[in-house]
Parts: sequence; structure tokens; C-alpha cells
Amino acid sequence: MNADVVPEIPQRAREVRLTRYLEGDLTLDHFDIVEVEVAEPAPGEVLVRTDYLPLAAALQDMMKSDCPLPIPPFQVGHRLGGGAIGTVVRSASPDLAVGDMVQSMTGWAEYSSGPAHTYFKVDPKLFPSPVYYLGQGPTAYYGMADIARAGEGDVVFVSGAAGGVGSLAGQIAKCRGAARVIGSAGSKEKVAYLVNELGYDAAFNYHDGPVIDQLRELAPEGITVFFDNVGGEQFEAAIQVAAPHARFALCGALSAQNGSQAAPRLDLMTAITKHLELRPFATYHTPEQIAAWTQHFATWLAEGRFVYPHTVVDGGLAKAPQGLLELLKGSYRGNVAVDLTTG
Ligand SMILES: NC(=O)c1ccc[n+]([C@@H]2O[C@H](COP(=O)([O-])OP(=O)(O)OC[C@H]3O[C@@H](n4cnc5c(N)ncnc54)[C@H](OP(=O)(O)O)[C@@H]3O)[C@@H](O)[C@H]2O)c1
Repeated sequence: MNADVVPEIPQRAREVRLTRYLEGDLTLDHFDIVEVEVAEPAPGEVLVRTDYLPLAAALQDMMKSDCPLPIPPFQVGHRLGGGAIGTVVRSASPDLAVGDMVQSMTGWAEYSSGPAHTYFKVDPKLFPSPVYYLGQGPTAYYGMADIARAGEGDVVFVSGAAGGVGSLAGQIAKCRGAARVIGSAGSKEKVAYLVNELGYDAAFNYHDGPVIDQLRELAPEGITVFFDNVGGEQFEAAIQVAAPHARFALCGALSAQNGSQAAPRLDLMTAITKHLELRPFATYHTPEQIAAWTQHFATWLAEGRFVYPHTVVDGGLAKAPQGLLELLKGSYRGNVAVDLTTG
């Protein structure tokens, strides 16, 4: 954007609020789209037009009054939170200029304003599209590199492999020298996608039969690393198929979060006798974690060793609620973002 051209701003713009806490299935009734005033920024603040919003399974957990994540739940009657990427359209701060691309945690709103230091300036030239900043990379990288320490020669299993975290985790393992990367997903199309487009060596559909049998067939010598997004049956199978001293990075429990599978049972004697290293983790996306991911991501993309699996939902903010419902049903692949520039 030419900084000399000051973009017009509307008097009013939309935001999405939570109508009631989530109990049971998420429906469109949980969302309310309202219009609010767009005000000029106060001294030290900026006004930002949101361009893209990320969607992720964890958002529904934050709609529960007993949010299981290590962060506070969304508040009924208030705007839904979460990440965003946008463009500064008014600035009353020397730290950011009109036209700067910024990342923030301002959530589901067409416009937001706040102190300039709560918006992080990003380089619009680093990636082909702003949506590349909105992926689950910091989680996938931290889990695969720091928690599982995947590297040369490892046989890696990633559950939920076609989702936001999983579609990056498998590629990260490959780039770090893993000998074989196996993924699981919920449809034939996703299984083909993992192998043909994301570089997985093998993949299976967890609906096609017992996970333990499918995993054993693909990893007859056992897995040495497990990156788990799903829990449930997939976790229980991974314990049985693990090689001695295998490292488990336990990232998510989609089978309980999105489905109704009970928490997995841990076969403790098997874990003990195999000396398994079970490491659940929760990322806080620290500046160091974001920087580690961004640096590797940009390098691997430039070297042609990595793709960014993503889906962009067109149609503006009004499409975000339906987009989240579709994501939870498994309709999308990779990291999902809503395009607010087309609404
Ligand atoms: N530990 C951390 O710090 C951290 C940070 C971020 C996210 N997470 C967690 O990481 C996990 C993955 O996150 P994400 O954003 O990448 O999610 P996601 O994969 O985008 O979630 C949607 C996917 O979940 C799968 N799914 C739905 N129901 C399922 C079921 N019953 N069993 C198995 N899979 C099911 C579907 O894929 P299929 O069609 O393949 O079933 C769907 O495409 C989540 O549990 C999330 O909460 C953890």
C-alpha cells in the first residue's frame, strides 16, 4: 500500500460475538454478528483493518466455560478472540505507519484498535501471502523439534496429519532427516494428499480398520517418534507399535475434542518396559518459538523442500462461523484462514 494514500474507513464494521457457552455440538446459534462503531485511534494507538483470520479446532475449546486450554475462555456477549493479520489504516503512534502489515490477537472483527505495541509488524515480502503467518507452525515446530527431537533416521507417526498442525509436523520431521514419516487422516482423499503432496512416505485412513493393524503394517520395525494430535485409539495403538525409547510429543486430543472418544488408556507396563518418553506439551507461542519456526519455514520454502498446506475461506467475516463448523467436520485440509478482503 502507498503510505501517502490514507485508506477510507467505514463508520461502522462487524464483529462476531459468543452468544452462550458451548455445551455439546457447536452450531451457528453460538455466534452473533453485530455492527460496532469504528473510531479514530487514541494517542499511542493504531486502527487496523483485519485481512485474514485463522480458524483452528482449539477455538471451540475456548467457547466452553470450563475451557481445557491453559488460557481463559471467550466471554459470552464479547467478541471471539484469536489471531489475526491486517493492515494499519490509521496510526497515532510513531511505532507503526499506515500501510504496515501487522499480526495481533484481536480476533473476529473487521477492524480493531489498541496500543501499537499489541500489534507486531511483519514483513509482507517474506511469504507469498499473509496467510502464511497464520498457520500452526510454532506448535508443530516446537513439538517436533524441541519435544520429540525428531531427526536423522527416525520413523515418525503423525496423527491428525492432514490438519493444521499435522500437515506441518510431518514435513518438519522430513526436513530434519527422518527416515520414514507416516500419517493418519479421516478420508481416502486426505490419505492421498499426505503422500502425493506433503511428502509423507505412507498414510492410512483411521476409519478403515483397527489403527494398530494399519500402523504395524506400515511400521513393522516400530515407530521411534509419535506426534499425537488425536489421542484415543491412535494413542493406544502408538504405545503398542512404539520401538524401545520412542519419544511421544502429545499435542492434542481431537478424538475427544471433536468426537466422543473417551480419553485413551495408558498401557503403563508396556510404556515402562519400553522406556517410552511421553511428553504432553502446551505452547504459548513465545517470541523465541515463533522466530524459530519462521526462520526454518522461510528457508525450507525457499529451498523448495516445504509446502504450506492451507485453505482460504472466501466471503468475509460472515463466513467465519460456518467455516469453523466445516473445519470441525473435517471438510478442510491444512491450515485454514478466512479472507476478510473479499467480504
Ligand atoms: N499443545 C499445544 O500447544 C497445541 C497448540 C495448538 C493446537 N493444539 C491441538 O493440536 C490438535 C490439532 O490442531 P489443529 O488446529 O491442527 O486441528 P485440525 O486438524 O485443523 O482439526 C480439524 C481436523 O480434526 C480431525 N478430526 C475431527 N474429528 C476427529 C476425530 N473424532 N478423530 C480424529 N480426528 C478428528 C479432522 O481431520 P480428519 O478428517 O483427518 O479426521 C479435521 O480436519 C488439536 O487437538 C489442538 O487443540 C495443541
